[in-house]
Amino acid sequence: MRTLVTGGAGYIGSHLVLDLLQAGHEVVVLDDLSNGHPRALERVAALAPRPAELVVGDVADVPLVRRALAGVDVVLHLAAFKAVGESMEHPERYFRNNLGGLSGLLTAMREEGVKRILYSSTAAVYSPQAPMPLREDSMVGPDSPYGWTKAQGEQMLSWMAARAGFSAVSLRYFNPVGAHPSGSIGEHVVAPSNLVPRVLMALTGHLPALTVFGSDYDTADGTCLRDYIHVCDLSRAHLVALAALERPGHHVYNVGTGRPHSVREVLAACAEVAGRPVPVVEGPRRAGDMPVAVADPARFHADLGFRAEHDLHGMVASAWRWWTENPQGYGPR
Ligand SMILES: NC(=O)c1ccc[n+]([C@@H]2O[C@H](COP(=O)([O-])OP(=O)(O)OC[C@H]3O[C@@H](n4cnc5c(N)ncnc54)[C@H](O)[C@@H]3O)[C@@H](O)[C@H]2O)c1
Repeated sequence: MRTLVTGGAGYIGSHLVLDLLQAGHEVVVLDDLSNGHPRALERVAALAPRPAELVVGDVADVPLVRRALAGVDVVLHLAAFKAVGESMEHPERYFRNNLGGLSGLLTAMREEGVKRILYSSTAAVYSPQAPMPLREDSMVGPDSPYGWTKAQGEQMLSWMAARAGFSAVSLRYFNPVGAHPSGSIGEHVVAPSNLVPRVLMALTGHLPALTVFGSDYDTADGTCLRDYIHVCDLSRAHLVALAALERPGHHVYNVGTGRPHSVREVLAACAEVAGRPVPVVEGPRRAGDMPVAVADPARFHADLGFRAEHDLHGMVASAWRWWTENPQGYGPR
C-alpha cells in the first residue's frame, strides 16, 4: 500500500514509518518539523529497505496535503501537539493545530477520494471519574484541552464515517515508552515532562533529582500507577489496526498492556538497567493526577489479535540505550 504518515518525523511516527517500510509499504511523510526531526527519517532510511518521501509542511494546508495524497490508500494521522500542561496554558494552540489540522486533512482526503484513516488518540480522552480498567465504552470526559481536542477528533471521524463513507480507526494510546532496539531511533526530547525521560535525565546528571509527586496514594507502594507500552508494540499496533479499515465505520481501540506499574517500579527498573540508584526527592501530589490509569486491552485483542509483548524492563532498557548512545537526541534541528 501507499501510505501517508502525518507527523512521521516524530517519536512514534519514526518507529511507525520504519515498520511500514519493513512491511513492504510505500510511505510519504508529511511533517512541519515543529517537533519532529529530519535526522529521524535519515536514521529510518538506514534501517529500512527503502527511504520514505518527506513533504515538509502543515497538515492544515489543504492544497499541499492534496498533492501529498496522490496515489495514497491509507492515512495514518499522528501530527498533533501533545503536551497536556502546555494545553492548559494555551488551549487555543491545541484547537488550532490538532483540530484545524485534522479538519484540513479530512477536507483534502474527501477531495482526493481517500477514505481510510488511522488516528492517534489518547487515554487522556477518558473522564477522571471513569472506573478502572478503562474500556473503550468507559466515560469520555477529558480534563485538559489536549484530551478534548483528541476526543473531538474522534467525533469528527465518526461523522466522516457516517456521512462520507470513511473507514476510520482511533487508537487510544496509553503511555508510550522506549526506543527501537537498534538504538538509532528514539524520542528527541528537549524538555520532557514524561516520567521515564525525566528519570533518565536524573540518572545522567541532566536533572539534580527526580521528583516523585505524591507517595501517599491508596496504592501498594503509595505512588501512582500507569499503563506503559513499548513504542515498538505501539507502532506494531498500527499495522495490526490497518485490517480494521477494511470494515466501514469508526472503530476505537485502547492500546495498552493492561498491566500498570507504579512510579517506584519504574524507578527500580531504571536503576537496575543503569546499574545505579536514581536520585529522588519526594514532592506533594500534583493536581489532577489520578492514582491509577490502566487500559482494558481486551477489545483490540478480541477483534484483531493484538497483544503487547514487551515488559517494563524491555521498555526501560531500550530507552536507556537510546539515551546513552544519543545524549543530544538527533542533535540541533
Ligand atoms: N507520546 C505520547 O505520550 C502520546 C500519548 C498518547 C497519544 N499521543 C499522540 O501520538 C501522536 C504522536 O505523538 P509523538 O509522541 O510521536 O509526538 P511528536 O511530537 O514526537 O510527533 C508529532 C509530530 O507531528 C508533527 N506535527 C505537529 N503538528 C503538525 C502539523 N500541524 N502539521 C504537520 N506536522 C505536525 C511534529 O513536528 C512531530 O514530528 C500525537 O498525535 C500525540 O497526540 C502521544
